[in-house]
Amino acid sequence: MAEKAGAHVPVTRRQWDEYPAAWFERYARPRWAADEPYWGMWGVPQSRLPVAPADLAGGVAVELGCGSAYVSAWLARRGARPVGVDVSARQLAFARRMQEEFGVRFPLVHGDAERVPLADACADLVINEFGAAVWCDPYRWIPQAARLLRPGGRLVFLTYSVLARLCMPEQGPVTNRLVQDLFGLHRLARRGGSGLAYRQFTLPHGEWIRLMTGCGLVVEDLVEVEVPPDATNSEFAEFPPEWVQRWPAEEVWFARRR
Ligand SMILES: C[S@@+](CC[C@H](N)C(=O)[O-])C[C@H]1O[C@@H](n2cnc3c(N)ncnc32)[C@H](O)[C@@H]1O
Repeated sequence: MAEKAGAHVPVTRRQWDEYPAAWFERYARPRWAADEPYWGMWGVPQSRLPVAPADLAGGVAVELGCGSAYVSAWLARRGARPVGVDVSARQLAFARRMQEEFGVRFPLVHGDAERVPLADACADLVINEFGAAVWCDPYRWIPQAARLLRPGGRLVFLTYSVLARLCMPEQGPVTNRLVQDLFGLHRLARRGGSGLAYRQFTLPHGEWIRLMTGCGLVVEDLVEVEVPPDATNSEFAEFPPEWVQRWPAEEVWFARRR
């Protein structure tokens, strides 16, 4: 039976509301403390993977699924005016603590990236790193991103690569085989280490392009992230080093509002 639109959101919210305090300290605090952004599971530096646009000064940047909001903090330090949106009160509470600690303040909105409580054409940049791009239905959050952007504004998001998705079983490490169909790729059943079942999302590349184009966006680039040989990843065990030396685990999309 087809799932009701947005039915996954309460499950996702619960999951992110239950994240352990130790994770915030280990993962989010060092990112808040960093001056130069670094991206994704292997922390590829901005100098090597320019995800944040260079010319942000004064521009409004909406981060959809901001979590602990270190991406917004990086953008604020580069002169942007960020607004973080997240469905998890716990994630936002940690973000507020970090704002106090680091003295970098910007609005945080408790809301759903599939129904964003912000005005049309309010943003020069809509961004997320493993936020809405992973956890929200693209047919619901991409139209929201397009609605929020001013003409000429940019959408940038970093997510699992489609190739990685095709090789990821419901639970456990990525494989060297295609275990998901490409045709119909959209809503993914996932299961965490504790057995918790949840949903994530992606689309085949052609469908991402058609969806964005249909929402008034022009796709400008798609970067398959190559992990530098010296990079390590102690947090995401589902990607063994020998896999990521051969194939991209992550990809970054760049689009612009017509
Ligand atoms: C992996 S974090 C990404 C944020 C940040 N880059 C980080 O790593 O902390 C995913 C975030 O997406 C948020 N999220 C998931 N579904 C959402 C939704 N429907 N609306 C807003 N935020 C959502 C979660 O609450 C979580 O904070």
